[in-house]
Amino acid sequence: MKIIEEEYDLAIIGAGPGGYHSAIRAAQYGAKVALIEKDKLGGTCLNRGCIPTKALLASAHFIEKIQKAEEFGVEIKGFSSNFSKVVERKDKIVNELGTGIANLQKAWKNDVYIGFGKILRGNAQEGFKVLIQGENNEELIHAKRVIIATGSTPALIPNFNVDHKRILTSDDILDSNFKTIPKRLLIIGAGVIGCEFADIFTTFGSKVTLLEYLPSPIATEEPIIIKQLQKKFDSKGIKIITSQNVLSVENTGSSVKALTCSASVPTEEIELAEKFSFEADLCLISIGRNKVSKNLGLEELGIETRRGAIEVDPGTLETVVNGIYAIGDVTGGIMLAHVASYEGDIAVANALRSLGVIKNHSRRTNYRVVPSTIFTSPNIGSVGLKRNQARELGIDVLVGQFPYESLGKAKCMGEEGLLILLADKHTLQIVGASCIGEGASELIAEVALAMQHGLSIEDITHTIHSHPTLSEMVLEAAEAVKGRAIHKKGHPIAPRLRDILMEQLPLGVEYGTE
Ligand code: NAI
Repeated sequence: MKIIEEEYDLAIIGAGPGGYHSAIRAAQYGAKVALIEKDKLGGTCLNRGCIPTKALLASAHFIEKIQKAEEFGVEIKGFSSNFSKVVERKDKIVNELGTGIANLQKAWKNDVYIGFGKILRGNAQEGFKVLIQGENNEELIHAKRVIIATGSTPALIPNFNVDHKRILTSDDILDSNFKTIPKRLLIIGAGVIGCEFADIFTTFGSKVTLLEYLPSPIATEEPIIIKQLQKKFDSKGIKIITSQNVLSVENTGSSVKALTCSASVPTEEIELAEKFSFEADLCLISIGRNKVSKNLGLEELGIETRRGAIEVDPGTLETVVNGIYAIGDVTGGIMLAHVASYEGDIAVANALRSLGVIKNHSRRTNYRVVPSTIFTSPNIGSVGLKRNQARELGIDVLVGQFPYESLGKAKCMGEEGLLILLADKHTLQIVGASCIGEGASELIAEVALAMQHGLSIEDITHTIHSHPTLSEMVLEAAEAVKGRAIHKKGHPIAPRLRDILMEQLPLGVEYGTE
């Protein structure tokens, strides 16, 4: 075993968007950093998640545009797609970004260790010994503080018999060797991953069926937004079968078969219940993700996990062992790349502050404003509260709703969709937004910024939005909260028009659409 003499301020285990971001941030503060990764820099996001799916989606989007060409007065006489080349493009993007991350670490003089990191022993006073087990060697480093950012992997159920041949996870589908579009694709789980892949593969020509346990796909989004997604999926021929308890998935050798029964059947009655069978060429299992927290030395240190999630102080992200922090998917919080990076900032600031490397930077997490996006086509973006959450919290809201079809720019682009803005009825402060349509993922960024700074509907309506742009969706939805959207079809004439025009709308009067 090679013992590295140099003492690091910070060792980070895992180089996904949580870990590699933290390493750069810590170096910016002047810390000496070791970044440990067992696989490739960039983690799930870059290698098996956000980025490769967006590359596939960009190609799929291209096909969708071509399919709509005639509507735009463009005649295209026959076209075909080559999925091998689509995969090549995806891999090139992933590799270039991976090299970029490695170069950034070099530029910040961070030491990157390739191997499995395990915390052997230590404490906040003396620092920690971290063992790095590489393919053929072992190295031991010493670090004053440690951040665990080991992420998550696809969740598996024994009955689903994932064999990585016909029964796959998203990791398999995003592998460089996956180059053939299945004729029939069965997807178990109509959550974020399931719906994104359903959309991509349908565009490339697969016949896709999704089986979902709950009564609705992506059950966490606004029902009206999901209804629009379902309508779009229907028009593309994507079948979503909800309330299905998938009992087993088998590779028959020439196909894959799933057996289900209604999700309403109690466990003890399943044996006698009516069964349904679904057959396809390939099956994707996308039923959530498991946290990666095994063999990190946690038990020996006294750090507890709950169903794999590392327990941390939710404010500081420090574990019960002072000096060891955990961030991102492995903590079981909001499993999003940008949340992991945000948590990295908090953990780094707190770790380096405790060492005196930086001063006055004690930070606590705040998850009030977390934008999230589902990259179906059209995509879905949301931030803050949904209507039902506001109701549960007892917050009276005014709702402004605006359709893409009424916006000049969206009409020119041939796009459909909807943006919903929620504002506190008494203060007019924006508390949430949900959007489905082209650019939804970008539009909610304006709302996120407004929410972060406690802005009101009027702060949006008093801001000049460039015309013609999709950003006017936010402006019109904000106007709609007070019942005065300019281009809203069939909008009732708001009472007390004079007051409204004089900007004297009394607060707490509901003119919006609930
Ligand atoms: P998910 O939690 O979004 O969806 C899983 C779905 O599978 C749920 O609807 C659940 O009801 C269903 N399900 C679970 N067990 C089932 C069973 N036995 N039979 C049928 N249905 C079953 O998880 P998903 O899609 O795997 O994504 C994992 C994580 O990755 C999520 O936390 C997501 O936020 C994140 N992610 C984020 C993306 C983004 O921000 N665009 C993209 C992809 C993933």
